[in-house]
Amino acid sequence: MNENVLILAIETSCDETSVSIVENGKTILSNIILSQIESHKRFGGVVPEVASRHHVEGITATVEEALEVANVTMDEIDAVAVTQGPGLIGALLIGINAAKALAFAYDKPLIPVHHIAGHIYANNTEDPLTFPLMALIVSGGHTELVYMKSHMNFEVIGETRDDAVGEAYDKVARTIDLPYPGGPEIDKLAATGNDTYHFPRVWLEKGSYDFSFSGLKSAVINKLHNQRQKNEEIVKADVAASFQQSVVDVLSTKAVKACQEYNVKRLIVAGGVASNKGLRHRLTELCEENKIKLSIPSPKLCTDNAAMIGAAGYYFYEADITAGLDLNGQNNIDIEEATIE
Ligand code: KG4
Ligand code: ZN
Repeated sequence: MNENVLILAIETSCDETSVSIVENGKTILSNIILSQIESHKRFGGVVPEVASRHHVEGITATVEEALEVANVTMDEIDAVAVTQGPGLIGALLIGINAAKALAFAYDKPLIPVHHIAGHIYANNTEDPLTFPLMALIVSGGHTELVYMKSHMNFEVIGETRDDAVGEAYDKVARTIDLPYPGGPEIDKLAATGNDTYHFPRVWLEKGSYDFSFSGLKSAVINKLHNQRQKNEEIVKADVAASFQQSVVDVLSTKAVKACQEYNVKRLIVAGGVASNKGLRHRLTELCEENKIKLSIPSPKLCTDNAAMIGAAGYYFYEADITAGLDLNGQNNIDIEEATIE
């Protein structure tokens, strides 16, 4: 392995323009995140075209700031890593083109990184990954259980059949008039309410590690619709707590069961919903009971950021996985394809 590999990483797959400098896949020298949330709020969700425009406006200054904060120059950088996908195609392309320009101008290798691999490797910057491990990915676009027997080896053992968990959070939040993004709002409100609604838990067939959240989302929407028609009082905090309890029960039970079946003693959680307090609390309890080591990144590293791309990018770099200047964005790409044999 090379010593002191410095990677400049770029992430623009959704609504965060982020650039980071990461050393040896572990040490974050800078991690600049320009969030567009305020701009998308007025639309109640991310508008892809608006996201692309913000990335264009912000990317150059974000690269400069990341280098400045890390106190390094482009000459000292060993490689440029960038999120290849999945994500919004127009948004991805802004980061990819910026990465290509830097790689070309400074003659550095260009490293394509899978966004979900990035979310998993966010953990590596705080508590280095050990194998085998189980990763529970819970973000706005993905809900997956991924088994890893070694670095950069991804086997999806379960995934959502419909909505991603973050997506369900955002939609339910909208029905009780909470602003975008709804996940953190529901999380806050849930802490002040009780599970009085007893929404369904969707387990699917026995032994399946797949998930389904669209039925739960519909159950919430139907129940509220019903209550509104009858002029009954809707206790938003109880709706939030009941919805969250149902989600947390299913996610945590399946994740721990998967660890047991695959004989894994390490569970990592990744993606925006990993910062959910209810999920963190329940998983901490269950993992303690079952003697599983639990790792969840600090909230800033759970949501989209470039440090996670720099962390994963290091292992691609060490495996000599590079791309040419014809690198394209991929809006839908399976994490198993990122496996390095
Ligand atoms: O990983 P991420 O930043 O972007 C994607 O790759 O999708 O995840 C964003 C998602 C949003 O749906 C947001 O509502 C959700 O993560 N989220 C949360 C919390 N914080 C963010 N959901 C539940 N509880 C939270 N505390
Ligand atoms: Zn993400």
